[in-house]
Amino acid sequence: MNDTNLKPSAPALPDQPRTPRIRRSAPEGVDYPKEIKSFVRRAGRTTTGQTKAFEDLGPQFLLPYQNSALDFVAAFAAAAREADTPNSRPTILEIGFGMGEATAAIAALMPEKNFLCCEVHEPGVGALLKRIGEQGLNNIRIVSHDAVEVIDHMLPLQSLDGVHIFFPDPWHKKKHNKRRLIQAPLIAKLAARLKVGGYLHCATDWQPYAEQILEVLSAEPLLKNTASNSHPELVGYAPKPHYRPLTKFENRGIKLGHGVWDVVFERV
Ligand SMILES: C[S@@+](CC[C@H](N)C(=O)[O-])C[C@H]1O[C@@H](n2cnc3c(N)ncnc32)[C@H](O)[C@@H]1O
Repeated sequence: MNDTNLKPSAPALPDQPRTPRIRRSAPEGVDYPKEIKSFVRRAGRTTTGQTKAFEDLGPQFLLPYQNSALDFVAAFAAAAREADTPNSRPTILEIGFGMGEATAAIAALMPEKNFLCCEVHEPGVGALLKRIGEQGLNNIRIVSHDAVEVIDHMLPLQSLDGVHIFFPDPWHKKKHNKRRLIQAPLIAKLAARLKVGGYLHCATDWQPYAEQILEVLSAEPLLKNTASNSHPELVGYAPKPHYRPLTKFENRGIKLGHGVWDVVFERV
């Protein structure tokens, strides 16, 4: 055995120099580096009922994502016929409907309105299709795609009468806050797509997110707060609008003593 073998093992190398990060900027017209998404595609089992709903109702109620403006009248023509309303009907956009419980309840309450609903979670899309079948709804169309891209490419300026964003993912950890859906650039795009007098309604059960939502919406020049709450802790927040149902999820939270904050702004 020679001496070298008796030497203690070499101390760990100081931090290896990292391969320098190349800061790449996007070529004009190309989204790069990739945008941070407000969602991760969760694994989740699609039930047999949801699969059947996809097969039976998908062709009628799913709209493919497209790179051009959506023709609202054509997309909701059957709904207008059934409700005996004019072809051009108010349209509400919903972002992130989850399993669609609130969506279906609201659409049932307002058959005279179109509900254009975006969700990326496949079992959720199946669940809403199933509700559409069970409740005989005709005024919902689903785009199973990132809502941010739908807004950018499919929705003309001043085309919406309302926007619903209920319980968007709170991304609790500080390092994940950047994934939150409700940030100034998205709100500016939504405000520009609302008609004058249209509304943007957000609800959350996470107070720091509620504060962020209030701050971001208040800073958007095209929006005005509808709230006139004088309770010191609730200044800026709206009473729960009658149409937003208490879902199972929200009821559970309320029983546990959690708060819920509604924020409703109007397009000026
Ligand atoms: C916490 S869940 C809330 C679901 C439902 N609104 C509720 O109140 O139960 C948020 C949902 O938003 C969806 N989501 C997040 N970002 C989205 C995006 N950019 N486009 C479409 N859906 C999105 C997620 O897939 C998730 O189902």
